[in-house]
Amino acid sequence: MPKTSPLRLGVNIDHIATVRNARGGRHPDPLRAALAAIEAGADGITAHLREDRRHIRDNDMERLKAEISKPLNFEMAATPDMVRIALGVQPHAVCLVPERREELTTEGGLDVVGQRDSLAPSIARFNDAGIRVSLFIAADPAQIEMAAKLKAPAIELHTGAWCDAITDDEPAKAAEEWRRIVAGASLAQSAGLEVHAGHGLDYATAETIAALPQIVELNIGFYMIGEALFVGLGETVKAMREAMDRGRAKVIAA
Ligand code: PXP
Repeated sequence: MPKTSPLRLGVNIDHIATVRNARGGRHPDPLRAALAAIEAGADGITAHLREDRRHIRDNDMERLKAEISKPLNFEMAATPDMVRIALGVQPHAVCLVPERREELTTEGGLDVVGQRDSLAPSIARFNDAGIRVSLFIAADPAQIEMAAKLKAPAIELHTGAWCDAITDDEPAKAAEEWRRIVAGASLAQSAGLEVHAGHGLDYATAETIAALPQIVELNIGFYMIGEALFVGLGETVKAMREAMDRGRAKVIAA
């Protein structure tokens, strides 16, 4: 059996803030959700400070950084303003994501090839500050190779198209997307990148992808927050952890 690394679960708490913002008050508090997720076994907390502040706000990031005992993964667009805010918060990691159409590749991830000139200085600033950068990209060889060339230490493979194809009952498309993820994870590891994955994952898809030995971190939000409405966040984190552990036990020699 191939040697495997532990697989970390990053819980994305954005949609606790979506619910809070629906009434404009302080409840439910994303920090409380982060603490509950960590208590139940999350290895880190992910939050996305969007330019439009539609869910997480600046002050949420500051409170998370000050109060949580596990790594904070700060998702953001690579704009000068966001880079300045993230360098001020000093999270453990940042994940650079597209927010505007022109930053997207056809598969929906960040267009690292097209945006290389603007991304390079941001990646360098985070590298210099000791903040691990990951680039949220489609499993496209050109994007993966450019991420390595720009010296990003990590990538996060966009699993949205694969998960959507499964949900929409399109098995041929799902199989094609899965092949791209398997090949992308392997290529990325050979290029020296740490490999993460996320977007649209549920218990079943997390269990499947956990069997790829190159992947060391999954970032999961929407499905878990939805499940938490029925069984509580702690139970959801534990169930996701179990799904990932079941998948990891079946490691695929990719
Ligand atoms: N990873 C990244 C880079 C994301 O932008 C998101 C969505 O905010 C996620 C993971 C989590 O996706 P989901 O909420 O669909 O689980």
